[in-house]
Amino acid sequence: MSVLVTGGTGYIGSHTVAELLAKRYYVIILDNLSNSKRDVVDSIEKITGRTPQFVEGDIRDKALVGRILQEEPIEAVIHFAGSKAVGESVRMPLEYYHNNVYGTICLLETMRDAGCKSIVFSSSATVYGGENVSPLREDMPEGRTTNPYGTTKLTIEKILRELCVSDPEWSVSLLRYFNPIGAHKSGLIGEFPNGEPNNLMPYITQVAAKKLKKLKVFGSDYNTPDGTGVRDYIHVVDLAKGHIRALERVLGRTGCETFNLGTGQGYSVLEIVKSFVRVTGQKVPYDIAPRREGDIATCYSDPSLAEKELGWKAELGLDEMCEDSWRWEEQLNQEA
Ligand code: NAD
Ligand code: UFG
Repeated sequence: MSVLVTGGTGYIGSHTVAELLAKRYYVIILDNLSNSKRDVVDSIEKITGRTPQFVEGDIRDKALVGRILQEEPIEAVIHFAGSKAVGESVRMPLEYYHNNVYGTICLLETMRDAGCKSIVFSSSATVYGGENVSPLREDMPEGRTTNPYGTTKLTIEKILRELCVSDPEWSVSLLRYFNPIGAHKSGLIGEFPNGEPNNLMPYITQVAAKKLKKLKVFGSDYNTPDGTGVRDYIHVVDLAKGHIRALERVLGRTGCETFNLGTGQGYSVLEIVKSFVRVTGQKVPYDIAPRREGDIATCYSDPSLAEKELGWKAELGLDEMCEDSWRWEEQLNQEA
């Protein structure tokens, strides 16, 4: 069975491609390498002993995507390609709407024209906004997004839902990721840092590696057990496995469904720092800093729908998330 994976050399995409190959899917990656490297394909081959087909190109290139869909009997698309930096999206809204929303529309038009109408889409917990109270459930109303990135995810979800209403042949799975961290156990694939990290775990690993001086803990006066922000961190390999289940689901039915992919367990910033220090034996100096604009106190999932409907549940705990994030950071530093 052939699957097209857009953004398949990226962080979550590469881990998903490794899982797909292990399950004997034939995988075609389409990636414009705007935020990843061609070498990732070799690393995936080392891990799995199998080679995905790689096409360097853009989801907005309808002629190219049309050719791929004509040449291969592709049954479904897993769509990761997009831009994901919240702060950058505030500075460059047009680029974000163009790449994420317009890019997805191009992909969907090309899929429709080729008669391939099954898609798994990378959404985000950000669509719940700050109004809903955790644990967040899929039947809660969408919240107000606070940045263009979040609005692109919300908009694409709506487009996909409306598409399913307009044409009952479509089969869509909207996956709302919580906070993916960690890396493959092999140390061969992980998240490539792009400038100074915005997210907590890559910041912690770079402080531990002495590339950055100190972690700033954004706010210690939230209404949480220790005052610092609480999030639902999920190991990227668990997340990747969730995509295989979602893929099987879209291949077996039509209509649009939404699933949280999280662990259901919230950890505070200080709990993450303490676990990282305990598991790796590294030092992570930190200062308490003011709250970061746009942050909320608490965000974690109710992951029971994915367990009930997809038979998927996160299995890896915080210790493995810390250990694997650190192994990846060390490996990056050996390469440098
Ligand atoms: P990533 O940047 O590592 O991967 C995205 C990949 O898409 C990159 O390899 C990039 O080169 C490629 N790409 C971007 N625009 C493209 C285009 N127009 N055509 C072809 N390729 C293109 O990001 P990731 O962390 O793996 O995230 C994957 C998806 O999951 C994204 O849609 C992101 O918004 C979503 N998501 C990520 C997180 C997270 O915390 N990492 C959380 C929620 C949702
Ligand atoms: N944090 C710090 N210091 C840092 C970085 C983060 O204290 O240097 C804190 C944040 O304040 C927050 C927690 O660590 O309490 C997690 O922050 P991240 O930036 O790692 O993750 P967010 O939950 O803010 O954002 C993530 C994704 C976004 C997505 C959002 C909502 O990165 O793409 O979840 O789903 F939009």
